[in-house]
Amino acid sequence: MAKSKENYLPIPLPDRLDLSDEEALQAAVSFSQLMAKRHTVRHFSDRTVDLSVIKSCVRAAGFSPSGANQQPWHFVAISNSKIKQRIRQAAEVEEQNFYAGKGGDEWINALEPIGTDATKEHLEKAPWLIVIFAERYSVDDDGEKVKHYYVTESVGIAVGVLITALHQSGLVSLTHTPNPMRFLSEICDRPESNRAVMILAVGHPSKDATVPAAAKKKKPLKEILTILLD
Ligand SMILES: Cc1cc2nc3c(=O)[nH]c(=O)nc-3n(C[C@H](O)[C@H](O)[C@H](O)COP(=O)(O)O)c2cc1C
Repeated sequence: MAKSKENYLPIPLPDRLDLSDEEALQAAVSFSQLMAKRHTVRHFSDRTVDLSVIKSCVRAAGFSPSGANQQPWHFVAISNSKIKQRIRQAAEVEEQNFYAGKGGDEWINALEPIGTDATKEHLEKAPWLIVIFAERYSVDDDGEKVKHYYVTESVGIAVGVLITALHQSGLVSLTHTPNPMRFLSEICDRPESNRAVMILAVGHPSKDATVPAAAKKKKPLKEILTILLD
């Protein structure tokens, strides 16, 4: 059966960023240099961050592409110290189980060069926690569930944009994935359709912040890129 085009309305491409080849290269190189300076930071200072900055970064993430434009994400930005404390307490319970053996030797060994352990001070210290939820489905006006497609991929892209926007704004972030993280739905009061994906701790680095040397080792381009020319 032919598909109805009733809902399809093409409009002229808005906001084209029209660069010369030279400008394109310059932009690509300078963006790559900016991204080379992004590091996951686990030590935060007391310096506060304006809500307006967080809002703009989340706004940027919300412009991400998504399967069928369903935008299957929700961000909960938390500066409330009591809630951060609850998240830390609940996360540390899971982390203690993980490091006590639940994670399995292989996983725990893979984390050794990163130097992480069950103590998650950053969850209270960082001025902001942004908890990211994947919306597995939405509910339409008739109360019917509407399935979302490519949820994992879409949320991953949006978080990538968010991390990039935070970095571009001079902030550091830590992607934290306690396992399991069902407790986040309850603390953040999210509906059944929402599944917590990660916590981003966001702020400024402490003066003595360090990063694991192992994290600086990135695969060379030739290992991550295959080029098939004409
Ligand atoms: C999906 C994902 C989950 C992660 N989970 C954690 C985590 O639970 N705790 C942590 O300290 N770092 C976590 N990280 C951060 C990684 O350890 C970090 O990105 C990696 O070591 C590379 O360092 P870089 O981000 O500075 O390049 C996670 C990163 C990603 C992308």
